[in-house]
Amino acid sequence: MKEALVSKGTHVQIVDSPLPEINENQLLIRVIVSGSNPKDWKLPDLFNIPGATNQGDDIAGIVERVGANVYEFKPGDRVAAFHEMRTPGGSYAEYAVAWQHSTFHIPENISFEAATSAVALYHRLSLPQPWTPITSPLPLIIYGAGSAVGFYALQLAKRSNIHPLLCVAGRSKDYVLSHLDPSKGDAVVDYREGDEAVISGLVAALKDKGFPPVKHALDAVSEGSSARNIGEVFRRVGAIDTPDGVKPKVTFVLGHKQEGVPDGVEQSVTTVGDVHSKEEGKDLGYVFFRYFAKGLHEGWFKGQKWEVVPGGLGGIEGALRKLKAGEASAVKYVFRIAETEGVGK
Ligand SMILES: NC(=O)c1ccc[n+]([C@@H]2O[C@H](COP(=O)([O-])OP(=O)(O)OC[C@H]3O[C@@H](n4cnc5c(N)ncnc54)[C@H](OP(=O)(O)O)[C@@H]3O)[C@@H](O)[C@H]2O)c1
Repeated sequence: MKEALVSKGTHVQIVDSPLPEINENQLLIRVIVSGSNPKDWKLPDLFNIPGATNQGDDIAGIVERVGANVYEFKPGDRVAAFHEMRTPGGSYAEYAVAWQHSTFHIPENISFEAATSAVALYHRLSLPQPWTPITSPLPLIIYGAGSAVGFYALQLAKRSNIHPLLCVAGRSKDYVLSHLDPSKGDAVVDYREGDEAVISGLVAALKDKGFPPVKHALDAVSEGSSARNIGEVFRRVGAIDTPDGVKPKVTFVLGHKQEGVPDGVEQSVTTVGDVHSKEEGKDLGYVFFRYFAKGLHEGWFKGQKWEVVPGGLGGIEGALRKLKAGEASAVKYVFRIAETEGVGK
């Protein structure tokens, strides 16, 4: 089969590889569409992953073969799946491998950022689950609401009736706003207007409106001034050192040390890899992947807008370079594998 391997410097080569092996709890999927993610260029570039590796993790395709313990899926089923990162059998290929628990029935492509958002909101921030929605105001900052992680978080938070949603976006501001409910206090501020505008805009969205101080934030950017700005909002609304002793919480999507977060703020890092590596993460993934399928079917949960990059696997390098340059705005680059040169239609 054809497989695309990414190496340092965002170089992609297409090679002939044997079909990947599966174990008894996995599926072999013929990939129809693969998604891409910022980590696909970051891991080889920034984390010195040696050699060239298939970095694709978002699979939409047709089940080819299942392991002996797989009971939910059979060959021919249309599925979406989140491949286990940094293992063989990624989605930048004609065939990919997925675990049963992170696979779901759906004829649409949905990216693994949806799972990241679920881990962030319900595991790291311990916010109310969508099936036990909160009935009183619970402000939440979503920094980078136009990113895939932010956009999925926004939709899940709405399902949990978490409002007001205090969003930070730029080029996607109008798109984000169209998914918010200003009657519940939701607001969006534009990061392109500078840090002080972001901070004062978020503070103003809460002020004199009878909402409690914001104590929860998902930082889907986790770069530049985002952490400092969130910390400053917590400080200005009086969320730190409150008499109840409850600390404000922020969860980041990148693992490096964040500068400028005041003492008294609880910090965590969200890692979507938990849905494959930790028992509680596997359960959360199992539940939420099926819940995403339900939401897509019912229409209250939408995939990030996508753009098909021409050339199949041959389009990956250009798309990863665009991700690296920060050109993607509220869009997911995807590849139709059948368009790859040398792949039978
Ligand atoms: N920890 C994990 O497990 C995990 C999982 C997935 C992703 N990630 C990381 O999470 C981050 C987001 O990933 P993604 O796939 O969601 O990215 P993405 O969709 O490609 O993000 C692009 C978006 O980022 C927004 N943005 C850029 N700078 C911003 C700023 N200063 N303030 C607010 N928004 C800003 C842009 O908003 P506008 O269009 O509005 O300008 C753009 O739409 C990446 O760093 C990725 O590596 C981590």
